[in-house]
Amino acid sequence: MDESPICTAHQQKKMIKITLYDRDNKKHLLDAPTDMTMNFMELCKAYELPVEGTCGGMALCASCHCYVESDHELPPASEDEEDMLDQAFFVEDNSRLGCQIKLKESLDGIVIRLAPTGE
Ligand code: FES
Repeated sequence: MDESPICTAHQQKKMIKITLYDRDNKKHLLDAPTDMTMNFMELCKAYELPVEGTCGGMALCASCHCYVESDHELPPASEDEEDMLDQAFFVEDNSRLGCQIKLKESLDGIVIRLAPTGE
């Protein structure tokens, strides 16, 4: 009997790697679960990175503003996300709201940079 019945749930866990540059240009390699319906803002908070997520992920505050620096294809921004980015500072073509980036397998290896806060 060398079959181990334990930890099947753990073995099924899907993790991806995310490279994050913080506002001091410091590189962080993050392990991100794709089976917990988590978004990028929540992941940053879990790692205690300086992302406030003031509105709780409702696309209403832009405190999770970031830049996607790799070629990964993301779903287009919703109208709410576009509206919020219109009011944010330091917006670039690759700007997104971290709370609207759902962690999923196709984002393995994505590179993201936190946008300045304007303070
Ligand atoms: S957490 Fe508020 S817009 Fe993303």
